[in-house]
Amino acid sequence: MQNAGITQLGLNWRYLAFDVLPEQLNTAMDGARAMRYVGLNLTVPHKLMALDWVDSVDPEAREWGAVNTIRFEGQDSDGNWTPIGQAKDPSVFHSIRSVGFNTDADAILKSIREDLGMPLKGARCVILGAGGAGRVAALKLASAGAASLHLVNRTQSKAEKVAEVIRKKHPDINLHVGYPKQGTQVDLLLNATSLGLKQEDSLPLDLESINLRNTHAAYDMIYQPAETPFLRAARSSGCQAANGLGMLLYQGTAALELWTGQSAPTETMRKALHGHIYGEVPQNPDDQVHVP
Ligand SMILES: NC(=O)c1ccc[n+]([C@@H]2O[C@H](COP(=O)([O-])OP(=O)(O)OC[C@H]3O[C@@H](n4cnc5c(N)ncnc54)[C@H](OP(=O)(O)O)[C@@H]3O)[C@@H](O)[C@H]2O)c1
Repeated sequence: MQNAGITQLGLNWRYLAFDVLPEQLNTAMDGARAMRYVGLNLTVPHKLMALDWVDSVDPEAREWGAVNTIRFEGQDSDGNWTPIGQAKDPSVFHSIRSVGFNTDADAILKSIREDLGMPLKGARCVILGAGGAGRVAALKLASAGAASLHLVNRTQSKAEKVAEVIRKKHPDINLHVGYPKQGTQVDLLLNATSLGLKQEDSLPLDLESINLRNTHAAYDMIYQPAETPFLRAARSSGCQAANGLGMLLYQGTAALELWTGQSAPTETMRKALHGHIYGEVPQNPDDQVHVP
């Protein structure tokens, strides 16, 4: 996805994946800074640890308690900071700093809005899962003006903790831990648990507690498999349904925009991502990259 976007923008860059052990994360990030990388993306568990490593944290990343994107910036002799990816000549920089962002949070709402075509203001939502992704989704839906939120989690105390944070920030929201009353209409049912990743996983919800026929739309953050048993059950009950590929796409387009300062070529990136995840293998990135 990123290499397709980079190629489309005509940049002589490469996006590479590295396995880094948590205990070596600081060393790896120091190395990236020393080598004047444009930036980094991080995944679990590094997202949480990076918060303490970066020199400066964007307020959104601070709020979500996780950094998934780092942008390196250089300081020139006049004291001005410029993102390395947007500098004409990064070799003039005498000092490099790291800035941490979180592009996951906005990506959730953007994907739900686009893929399900539904407004979130006034929506009655049920969120399954209160891990990192469930917490951010709940906070984001509350800030988008959802009318009600029901938080359901295997470990109820975690849902209660999330509810506590939301209540402080959004005292007017209709917020509950547990399923809504039988017969309640639900606009959005969101799976933010990891149930569905493995073939043998059970459904992430109790069908005795929620009637999918009273549910307008279902969103599963999981994108592999493309259709989880949760989405299959939702579709067969007549719900609008979408998986988490759009969320993955939009956290990536936002990261590329932070590094380049340019609009990301979303459709090119969507096509590459879809091909990569669902099996239409994209061309070798090296064949596509235009080296000026
Ligand atoms: N599309 C995307 O770009 C994207 C981005 C981020 C995450 N995700 C997906 O979102 C999901 C959650 O990610 P996360 O980062 O929030 O993970 P996490 O912090 O580890 O949270 C996992 C959640 O799943 C629940 N869970 C796990 N196993 C369960 C089981 N056997 N029965 C019932 N509940 C179970 C956990 O409940 P407990 O609290 O009780 O353990 C918790 O609520 C994952 O599937 C991940 O792949 C997708």
